[in-house]
Amino acid sequence: MLSKIENIIRDIQLASVGKTDDKLAEIEQFRIKYLGKKGIISELFEQFKSLPADQKKETGQALNRLKNIAQSRIEEFKQYVENDVKSEHTVDLTLPTDYSEVGSRHVLSVVMNEIIEIFSRIGFTVAESVEIEDDWHLFSALNFPHDHPARDMQDTFFVEKEEGKQEVALRTHTSSVQVRVMENNKPPIRIIAPGRVFRNEAISARAHCIFHQVEALYVDKKVSFADLKQTLLYFAKEMFGEDTKIRLRPSYFPFTEPSAEMDISCNICGGNGCNICKGTGWLEILGCGMVDPNVLESCGIDSKEYSGFALGMGVERMAMLKYQIRDLRLYFENDLRFLRQFDSIV
Ligand code: DAH
Repeated sequence: MLSKIENIIRDIQLASVGKTDDKLAEIEQFRIKYLGKKGIISELFEQFKSLPADQKKETGQALNRLKNIAQSRIEEFKQYVENDVKSEHTVDLTLPTDYSEVGSRHVLSVVMNEIIEIFSRIGFTVAESVEIEDDWHLFSALNFPHDHPARDMQDTFFVEKEEGKQEVALRTHTSSVQVRVMENNKPPIRIIAPGRVFRNEAISARAHCIFHQVEALYVDKKVSFADLKQTLLYFAKEMFGEDTKIRLRPSYFPFTEPSAEMDISCNICGGNGCNICKGTGWLEILGCGMVDPNVLESCGIDSKEYSGFALGMGVERMAMLKYQIRDLRLYFENDLRFLRQFDSIV
């Protein structure tokens, strides 16, 4: 009987569940087979009764061991099934991960940050101001004549136009920040003003009523046109590549004298002429000039002691040229097929 018990113990230890889908039923069958009323172990206990007295001690111990092993095997099986059920709800870290949607910066933010970054390397700090501005900061302090077309409803979104009061409008350019900074700070001043601007324009591929500008202003003793030119060259090379050339064309802005517009050599055809630069080899990039002495005086800065340069550029245009974007409306449509193309340039 002892060897029979040992064989049964081995069978129990080798037994497993999971041959069918119903593991609990398998466990129950196992229990009935060994521990049921008519099961193998109960039968052995029956036989045990008729054993000679001298075998009872040893066989009794073996039988109890068998019973315990059978019971703990059942517990093990139950535990196994329970864990299996649980594991259906827990994460399997060995599986490949799902693609998760991660946001990215808008291309305009990327370009704006790049411009800020370039200027901050040569000592410019960011200045910000209000988007709803009064006439003084938008036009008068910047030397705009009273009959200048920018003061017309057709160009400017006026917020308030009350009789006898200063007009208030959505700012049409970030040059207004120049005035606020000069009014509140003494030279040397070296700021860059990024921000949103608004103009009363019909929306098309080339124009929008909301867009972004970055303005730079440097005021100190003996600031010259050469300083402006060198700053422009540095910026153009950093932004569009080491081989970029610049050219300055005379222009007019009320707040600068002399004024200029800067072109860069076309970064698409390398200056040979293509449809982006309309065959000229040059791309217009920004407006600039020496701050008009009238503007310095309006802001309380002595124009005999100080001089300065200013420049302003459109961020949408910068991004268009850098990434060959053909239609300005794409920036504001929130079409993920467009936005995702810039995922990697953060
Ligand atoms: N404010 C001008 C515009 O909106 C851009 C500009 C031109 C800014 C020349 C300047 C400048 O500071 O010097 O078109």
